[in-house]
Amino acid sequence: MPDKILLLPDNIANQIAAGEVIQRPASAVKELLENAVDAGASEIKLILQDSGKALVQVIDNGTGMSETDARMSFERHATSKIQTIDDLFHIRTMGFRGEALASIAAVSQVELKTKRVDDETGTYIEIENSLVTRQEPVAMGNGTSIAMKNLFFNVPARRNFLKSNAAEMRHIVDEFTRVALSFPHIFFSLAANGQQIFHLEAGTLKQRIIQLLGNTYNAKLVSVKEETDYMNIYGFVGKPETAKKTRGDQYFFVNNRFIKSAYLNHAVMNAYQEMIAGDSFPMYVLFIDLEPTQVDVNVHPTKQEIKFEDEKIVYAFVQAAVKHALAQFSVTPTLDFDLDSSIQQLSSVQQPFTEERKSAATSTSIFKGFTEKHQAHFIEPERTAELRNWRDFFESSESGVGRQSMVDSRKSMDNLNVEKEGTPLPNHYLPLTIHDSRLTQLHNQYILAQTATGFILINQQAAHERVVYEKLGETMNGAASTSQRSMFPVTFELVQSDCVLLEELMTDLHQLGYMIEPFGKNTFVIQGTPADVEQGNEKIVIEKMLEQYKHFSADLKFSKREKLIRSLAKQQAIKPGQPLTEKEMQALVTDLFNCKQSNSSADGKPIYLEFKMDQLEKMFGR
Ligand SMILES: Nc1ncnc2c1ncn2[C@@H]1O[C@H](COP(=O)(O)OP(=O)(O)OP(=O)(O)O)[C@@H](O)[C@H]1O
Ligand SMILES: [Mg+2]
Repeated sequence: MPDKILLLPDNIANQIAAGEVIQRPASAVKELLENAVDAGASEIKLILQDSGKALVQVIDNGTGMSETDARMSFERHATSKIQTIDDLFHIRTMGFRGEALASIAAVSQVELKTKRVDDETGTYIEIENSLVTRQEPVAMGNGTSIAMKNLFFNVPARRNFLKSNAAEMRHIVDEFTRVALSFPHIFFSLAANGQQIFHLEAGTLKQRIIQLLGNTYNAKLVSVKEETDYMNIYGFVGKPETAKKTRGDQYFFVNNRFIKSAYLNHAVMNAYQEMIAGDSFPMYVLFIDLEPTQVDVNVHPTKQEIKFEDEKIVYAFVQAAVKHALAQFSVTPTLDFDLDSSIQQLSSVQQPFTEERKSAATSTSIFKGFTEKHQAHFIEPERTAELRNWRDFFESSESGVGRQSMVDSRKSMDNLNVEKEGTPLPNHYLPLTIHDSRLTQLHNQYILAQTATGFILINQQAAHERVVYEKLGETMNGAASTSQRSMFPVTFELVQSDCVLLEELMTDLHQLGYMIEPFGKNTFVIQGTPADVEQGNEKIVIEKMLEQYKHFSADLKFSKREKLIRSLAKQQAIKPGQPLTEKEMQALVTDLFNCKQSNSSADGKPIYLEFKMDQLEKMFGR
């Protein structure tokens, strides 16, 4: 058998989206697993020590490599997967850059063992600092084992930058889950520090989903399957009742590659419209297959972002396919329609792709619907100008008889300073004075409060979330937390990936007053909770908090603590539909306006809208 790895010429190499390939143990896990898949393995084993910091090893029974290829595979731009620029547009393999092994070899100590079926002996190679330090023949079975040891041993700064073992482990489980979901016909296992964590027999996609995402989806999966000349879609979506408060279980694969796409996610959400609560996320594992010429996978170094030649058609297709699937199980007859004909009638399907169509697509309302910010109540830039006069306003309104000022001017000054330093939203509550005796709850969801110059409409959930968020933030920073011991300690069981997550959060949860301890295999016991968490609700609070945390976890810009307190705040806040007494409303409004930032939520959404008398007059044409 001839060798097969070639060095890409510079002109091709330079066209490949470059970037840091190995940032953490999980990146190596992804790369090594994908190489094993590309090598046609039917069994892939992942072995870890110290959450991958000490060892990431992947053993496969795939094609193996010749002696020359084994050495060659660690060169930059050395790949057997593409040869010409044209090949970049016909990629069916996970890899194509010839970057991964070279990157791994640059930042760790590598041991490779590999043997092809037709070779008598295999090749053993050791590499350090990108240089081969040892090479010899080895007796072994067919396939490849690559061990990456002591990641960043030669870049201590990077090593220090790695997160806790629990955090790194969670990233690894995420990557492992993505690859294992994508290839259910391949056996996968994961062992960490000698303990078997996953053992996934080859099977159907449905079995794999349940193995990985949990038994709760058993009998709750709706099959999606549509085929057209342009593209196919298959997979499963969760029945509406399985929708969660987190995006956690949402997976798109395009030609078997896991991708992140807010655009396609929107298509699925649209298909669920009215079937699930607005703030919940349906589960989906969807595979889109289409001609590789119709997707550009070479736009991002991690390959998790791709570009479709015609996004609009993919959007319409995904939405229609999911709607159709849901209609088939649903009792709602109005949802039922003939998918095939509606897809075939899409002009995108019928006409060839042209520049005009591209611009037509981007001017449609669907496209605009989510590419343009639709935050109608976002505080507009003019507000800033208005703010400059806050002082006059504040001073004049303070003289109002019988009115209670909810803010003090010192605080207002502080907020103005913050605003200058670039806070996205000016804290424009400053001029508000509220009639404390005139609070009205609307639809058990909003609080209407009269102010000196008009009225404000407060979203009760958003307001409470802000109050809890700031309180938790203070507790995190050392303020005392009061914990109450549960009378009857509650135990609960989690799926493996959630256990890893909970362990990661344990110290911070303790700080916040949650007394949780491991209690044997995948089980935890809650000994106590913060005083304001209702007894009997502890388990739900933790489960929902984890869900919410996962929802934030893709967001690298937040620290772990920030994500945790955001999650808990969302979890603990009162919800729409909760009737409030006059006293409760009063307390909430007071607490809200005692917050450091009371007009916008942690994620920048407005907490209340202000209506001024003069605006109202104008609206009434006066
Ligand atoms: N487990 C494996 N079994 C057989 N061959 C392998 C294996 N891992 C790597 N190779 C060979 O080594 C080459 C280099 O691997 P590497 O991961 O660096 O690049 P790639 O997979 O081609 O592209 P990418 O950088 O996008 O992953 C591959 O093209 C393949 O020929
Ligand atoms: Mg690769």
